[in-house]
Amino acid sequence: MNTSRWPHAFFAAAALYAMIGVSWGLAMSITKDHATYSAHAHLNLLGWISMALMGTFYALLGQTVANWIKLTNFVLSNIGVVCMISGLFMYLGQKGPASVYGPLLAIGALSVVGGFFLFGLTAVSTALRRPAAA
Ligand code: HEM
Repeated sequence: MNTSRWPHAFFAAAALYAMIGVSWGLAMSITKDHATYSAHAHLNLLGWISMALMGTFYALLGQTVANWIKLTNFVLSNIGVVCMISGLFMYLGQKGPASVYGPLLAIGALSVVGGFFLFGLTAVSTALRRPAAA
């Protein structure tokens, strides 16, 4: 992907998760069933807020970051959100066996952590990089 398109990809994913997340919140409010509120909260905070912040970083400061880092960050974060939220939803809502939600939670949590470490190391190394001479 063209380097400058990565912020668009992060924001598009973030906006999709936000639409699902706020609809989920609305559904909980209407039905008065808050059993899965923690999955809703994680979807909004990991999917919407964190992905939007990563996209903002790449738009403002990430022009020199290698393409493969942005791709890996994007893929890990999305696998993380999708697996972790569906696993949490099944676990909290008692909607599936542990043999299904257990692996989903494990894969999701590891992917989320991997995405955050890659992003964190990238942000720190970008901050430490010597600025180009004016
Ligand atoms: C239309 C929009 C939204 C609605 C109707 C909504 C609704 C709800 C409801 C009903 C709960 C459960 C409260 C409880 O049982 O304690 C909840 C929890 C939560 N929501 Fe949302 N929500 C919305 C948007 C958001 C957004 C945009 C975020 C974050 C960016 C968010 C973050 C959270 C968090 C962190 C909790 C857990 C709070 C706690 O521990 O009690 N929500 N929301």
